[in-house]
Amino acid sequence: MNIGPIDFGEKPIFLAPMEDVSDPPFRMLCKRFGADMMYTEFISSGGLVHDADDCLQKLDIYDEERPVGIQIFGGNIEQVRAATPIVDRIGPDLIDINFGCPVRRVVCKDGGAGILRNLPKMERITRAVVEEATRPVTVKTRLGWNDQSIQILDVARMLEDCGIQALAVHARTRSQMYKGEARWHWLRRLKEEGVQNIPLIGNGDATSPELIEKMFDETGVDAVMIGRGAIGNPWIFRDAKIYRETGEVPPPPTWEERISIVAEHLTLKCEWLGERTGVLEMRRMYSGYFKGFRNASKLRHLLMQEEEKDRVLEVLMNFDQHQADTQVTVPAKRAAKKAIPAAVQAKLPTPSRKKKKPKATSTA
Ligand SMILES: Cc1cc2nc3c(=O)[nH]c(=O)nc-3n(C[C@H](O)[C@H](O)[C@H](O)COP(=O)(O)O)c2cc1C
Repeated sequence: MNIGPIDFGEKPIFLAPMEDVSDPPFRMLCKRFGADMMYTEFISSGGLVHDADDCLQKLDIYDEERPVGIQIFGGNIEQVRAATPIVDRIGPDLIDINFGCPVRRVVCKDGGAGILRNLPKMERITRAVVEEATRPVTVKTRLGWNDQSIQILDVARMLEDCGIQALAVHARTRSQMYKGEARWHWLRRLKEEGVQNIPLIGNGDATSPELIEKMFDETGVDAVMIGRGAIGNPWIFRDAKIYRETGEVPPPPTWEERISIVAEHLTLKCEWLGERTGVLEMRRMYSGYFKGFRNASKLRHLLMQEEEKDRVLEVLMNFDQHQADTQVTVPAKRAAKKAIPAAVQAKLPTPSRKKKKPKATSTA
């Protein structure tokens, strides 16, 4: 399957855009485990136009993670139009428009899924981005605002007419938020009666290797996009591909492998955000990584107490999963060395963005 000039091969598996999750450190890990395409978290077009530092930081992309898309949102047509060249100059492989975010603060301004109540405006926003972009534009949306207004078949045709080059659909309505089941039968219908010449990316509840394959088989989508199933579980991309080839789901990573990836994730976060912010931001990741493990809450509690990277690594390395109370003491330096693969200790590459003002990259 192709999006514009990008050839993904058969049945690619994408990492979904996720706020506070799909940042460069996490994307690096997902890429290593085989994610075929990744997106930044959504970025406010208003924030970009007004040079907001937090929005500009989210534009960081690295050549190692290509193909990578930058996702923007906003309900103000002129702001979205003005934000598009800012994003375009960074050089992502594609620009994705978020028409699916269900959060009140976003939908009330016609951003995200809010625009599903105003399809003429959705069309104008999409045309504006397609006009301004020099690279493929894609859209991620939901089935409709609520059960009474599922218009995704018409929406798909309209967006394709605007010139988008792929459509990702989270098979829920805005009213469903993240609850209830994703309705995969709509993905099947979209493939048969909605999109004509562009790929359809299926999303929603493909949270395990078996379910990823099932989504491909039952709906005929061209790619599957994984959200929550990848949180604390970047291995899912590798496991899904092994499952497709062998029919067997590999055993979960050992405790040691898990600790090593958490340590690497932490290290990358600290490289990207600076030590203090990196340590704090990493705190939201622990529950995903240690979900279902014995004494996980005790470990999380210990990790939350620490504010320095080396101290966090020390806690990680010293934690005995089975006997939480009998910890062996490994000095921080040795713990860090043991946990982080040598390659990761090397500095991260320079991001495509040079500090505050966005600049073009050499590729894409
Ligand atoms: C923590 C979190 C943050 C999210 N942020 C975004 C976002 O920035 N942009 C977007 O299009 N969707 C976002 N989503 C929605 C996901 O991309 C995806 O559509 C949704 O989780 C359903 O897929 P899943 O069942 O595989 O998780 C987010 C979801 C989660 C759980």
